[in-house]
Amino acid sequence: MIDYKEQIALKIAEITVTNKDDIKNYIEVPQNTEMGDFAFPCFRLAKELKKSPMQIAEDIKSQFGENELIDKVEVVNGYLNIFIKKDAYIYDVMKSVLAEGDNYGRSNIGNGKTIVIDYSSPNIAKPFHIGHLRSTVIGNSLYKIYDFLGFKVIGINHLGDWGMGVCRTIAGYLMWKDEYDFSERPIDSILAIYVRYNKIEKEDPDFKQHAVDALKKLEAGDEEITKIWNWIIKVSLENYQKIYDLMDCKFDSYNGEAFYNDKMDRVIKELEDKNLLVESEGAKVVMMDEDIPPCMILTSQGTTIYATRDLAALLYRIDNYNFDKCLYLVASEQALHFKQVFETLSKMGYEEYAKRCEHIPFGLVLDEDGQKMGSRKGNATTLEEIFGESIEKSLKIIEEKNPDLEDKQSVAEKVGVGAIIFNDLANSRIKDEIFDWNQILNFNGETGPYLQYTYVRTRSILRNVGEIPTSADFSLLNDKEGYEVVRLIGSFGDVVKSAADKNEPSMISRYLLDLAKAFSRFYNEHHIICDDKNVQDARVLLTKVTGDVIKEGLALLGIRCPEKM
Ligand code: ARG
Repeated sequence: MIDYKEQIALKIAEITVTNKDDIKNYIEVPQNTEMGDFAFPCFRLAKELKKSPMQIAEDIKSQFGENELIDKVEVVNGYLNIFIKKDAYIYDVMKSVLAEGDNYGRSNIGNGKTIVIDYSSPNIAKPFHIGHLRSTVIGNSLYKIYDFLGFKVIGINHLGDWGMGVCRTIAGYLMWKDEYDFSERPIDSILAIYVRYNKIEKEDPDFKQHAVDALKKLEAGDEEITKIWNWIIKVSLENYQKIYDLMDCKFDSYNGEAFYNDKMDRVIKELEDKNLLVESEGAKVVMMDEDIPPCMILTSQGTTIYATRDLAALLYRIDNYNFDKCLYLVASEQALHFKQVFETLSKMGYEEYAKRCEHIPFGLVLDEDGQKMGSRKGNATTLEEIFGESIEKSLKIIEEKNPDLEDKQSVAEKVGVGAIIFNDLANSRIKDEIFDWNQILNFNGETGPYLQYTYVRTRSILRNVGEIPTSADFSLLNDKEGYEVVRLIGSFGDVVKSAADKNEPSMISRYLLDLAKAFSRFYNEHHIICDDKNVQDARVLLTKVTGDVIKEGLALLGIRCPEKM
């Protein structure tokens, strides 16, 4: 496909004698096509050229001349608005998307680069709680986006499989195992034990000692305790796997905290060699440059902690993956932790790698009254319950809308799961997510089901047409609504790149909503199946590629499309 931004940047750089790549970065795509297909904000060059934006715009305009891609340029408020030759553009986009098929929008900008993504990472023996939804959803989507752009991606589930959390469950299990049934759904009994233990410990802090003892034994390699620990991990992972399957979520590694037990000595040694470990109230810490608390490495009992494990994990990832980027999908609450860990890594002599690490934070999940999800009784809080409820509700809606549909259960799964995922990715990640069933499953709202429905509609149009043409006279799509759809399809690849650049899958979500809405307007204004075969062929192909791009875009979010619903 012709890179219009590149061509325009070349032209402007030639006229103004400035850097083409900078210009390319400044070029914008106006929301409203009346302001042009592209716009160049001339104030960006004002300093360098020592001229007013207005003057720069006029200069560029007067020297622009004839161009095979550009129809005209206009000056508005210091902006250069650029109108391209639409017929040529439409032809170029349609030809490319039809020729490239599944590969449309893909790129090789990531070739030769490795990205580690640390996401999901639940804490074993606790429920797979709504609190881990966002990390899983956003991480899964970023995995697919980077993969699409040619990066080598290593997805890591840094399981919280060590420490006091799991030992509370082990201690409770030792005391009460005879009271529970582990035959049918062992995970439920394990969770019940965890909840019971915590409740008692809240009222009686001394109760903690049971878990402390269990942890000591686990650390010492006690056979019985280790066996229980392994079993709890196995049962938990089996439970998580069901959710991961629903979400089309995969990991290349499940190396959790426990994996680093025998890799911690190196961290301590390297810190000691560099004289970085400082005694503080019996603990060993690394002092930070900025005005933030020191990073604790060893507790006063001499045990390692969360940060020590993250450092060991980083050394391991450096050795084994030699990453260009290492992203951590973890709630904003842990911002300080990651600052401390990255700074410590840097002080240890790994500045280059520390710079490649990035904490990717996100907001909370709130219920429709603005309360933190799960903080009130009666709300579903485990992901298993939430997805279950969503699938059930979707099934009801589908049964009402389309009682004769085949395979309703599998459609309901795609719709129910897609709805939850889309809701999570609908807005920029740092914003809190509102979890409101009426919104999430609204087939006419800005939702996953709405997009799936739009896709299904494109497919049903194609079925009505029967034979799909392979080519057409695409200039017949040059009307207001048709052009708008083509323009969006043409920008798909750029949107995916920007989403990766900002680690922001919501850019794809917003894009898909724009595309679906633009297609709706097109569909409402024009008959796709019509008397003029040439016009019909062009419109049918536009319908096809719209469906293809929606499906591909949703796949990048981790959402599957049913063919009918
Ligand atoms: N298990 C941790 C938690 O639930 C998240 C782990 C994130 N990853 C990491 N490398 N620290 O809070």
